[in-house]
Amino acid sequence: MNQPYILSFPPIGDASLGYLSVAQQLSDVPFEIARVYWTYYTPQDVTRGGHANIDKELVLVAVAGTITVTTEMQDGHKHTFVLDHPSKGLYLPKLCWHTMQYSENAVQMVIASNLYSEDDYIRDYSLFKSWQ
Ligand code: TYD
Repeated sequence: MNQPYILSFPPIGDASLGYLSVAQQLSDVPFEIARVYWTYYTPQDVTRGGHANIDKELVLVAVAGTITVTTEMQDGHKHTFVLDHPSKGLYLPKLCWHTMQYSENAVQMVIASNLYSEDDYIRDYSLFKSWQ
């Protein structure tokens, strides 16, 4: 689907022992996983993101805290998603402009379909809108 959508990583376990969630490539996550990175200690008044990736799909997970993500596709479709549970993820397709804001102590895990390359980023909004 060429729009962002919420994914579920069902909790395994119970309240007495705690829980575990799994993100397996090509099943829980709709692509082959090339890279995982995480962001933390982001001040609450900071907005991260503000870019799109030309050839990279992502899944964002708030493994702790709450993350509010805004997305916009080139067709103008805008959404706001709230990641507020470690069993929830957000799939971002290629060419999806996104921003993220974080609650105190939020930790964001990012699962990426490709290796990091700055050449893959569009950081200029007008360029994003006109990119073909
Ligand atoms: P960026 O992807 O813009 O972070 P966010 O979407 O959370 O705002 O990356 C922030 C900085 O980190 C940027 O200078 C690029 C650098 N970076 C790496 O060096 N390696 C990586 O694997 C990633 C994802 C980013």
